[in-house]
Amino acid sequence: MGTILIFVCLFFIPDALTNTKEWTNFKEKFGKDYKSTLDEQRRFSIFQENLKIIEAHNEDYRNGKSTYYMGVNQFADMTQEEFINRLGPARNMDISGHSRIMDISTDDGNIPESIDWREIGAVTPVANQGECGSCYIYGALGSIESQHFLKSGKLINLSVQQILDCDEYNNGCIGGWPASVYKQIRENGAVLSEDYQSYQENVGQCQANGTLFKGIGYLSVPRNENALKTAVATYGPVSVEIDASYLNKYSGGVYFNASCNANMANHVLLVVGYGTENGQDYWLARNSWGTTFGIEGYVKMARNRNNNCAIANAPTLPIL
Ligand SMILES: *[C@@H]1O[C@H](CO)[C@@H](O)[C@H](O)[C@H]1NC(C)=O
Ligand SMILES: *[C@@H]1O[C@H](CO)[C@@H](O)[C@H](O)[C@H]1NC(C)=O
Ligand SMILES: *[C@@H]1O[C@H](CO)[C@@H](O)[C@H](O)[C@H]1NC(C)=O
Repeated sequence: MGTILIFVCLFFIPDALTNTKEWTNFKEKFGKDYKSTLDEQRRFSIFQENLKIIEAHNEDYRNGKSTYYMGVNQFADMTQEEFINRLGPARNMDISGHSRIMDISTDDGNIPESIDWREIGAVTPVANQGECGSCYIYGALGSIESQHFLKSGKLINLSVQQILDCDEYNNGCIGGWPASVYKQIRENGAVLSEDYQSYQENVGQCQANGTLFKGIGYLSVPRNENALKTAVATYGPVSVEIDASYLNKYSGGVYFNASCNANMANHVLLVVGYGTENGQDYWLARNSWGTTFGIEGYVKMARNRNNNCAIANAPTLPIL
């Protein structure tokens, strides 16, 4: 009798019902508030589709067909198309006109096998860019903050909002390049975050030009993963541009997508180290999607797999 009852129950419970609890948890955890019942119904149905994708992918992960697993985060009520639109247009990264190419080529054998600059406190905390396409500012400022720490032993937070408001070389919340942020700071300076209005997720009136880091230099790392490794090991955290179109569901492991775009980028990360996990080489990168994304806000991107997702195409770093 008992067995039959269980069978009947499983058989008749529709997906919609089994996912209700997950939906409630999701809304609560990420503070989701929908405009109307209709809107919520639509988001719930997208959420359920995403759960199916996550489950199927994680089955592949368990069977060794993928090196990373997926999970529910703040993007789980968005379609893939909406997420890609949110990232903004993908761009080809020819940064040769922006900066000098760094004079390093390959690993000379003295470069460590793994490194994590967080271990000595050289990396500022994970932030959340929210609805504004300001990833390039988080990447660029993150690299300056780390360089400053490595020179002075002091960790400071620079104001992302001040760059958004005062920058002349990028496109505010539409997007930009780390190299152009270095150019802005070289000419107009930066300010500490405590000395400027808090982050607003949009561009406002420029309230004050900066005085910090005026005159800095910046370099492009040669476009290959060996040079990037050398740069990260010898200089510290480096900002990189990637194709992040399918990164939204990443939860852990080493992110690799064979179809990832090798030339176009739509997102910026801060590479703070590298290593190897379960035989997979990875770049350890800080993202700016809050700590609910990935591994406490970090992602391990495939390394030495033919420049996956274009990670070594446009690395840049400031010279303080
Ligand atoms: C930098 O900002 C983070 C939060 O984003 C905060 O936890 C930390 O204390 C700040 N550091 C300094 C030196 O102000
Ligand atoms: C910042 O500098 C620019 C360029 O020098 C200038 O046009 C602008 O008025 C300055 N803004 C403030 C708030 O000082
Ligand atoms: C990998 O990327 C391709 C397109 O670039 C996409 O169609 C596919 O869904 C992605 N795979 C995963 C598991 O996200």
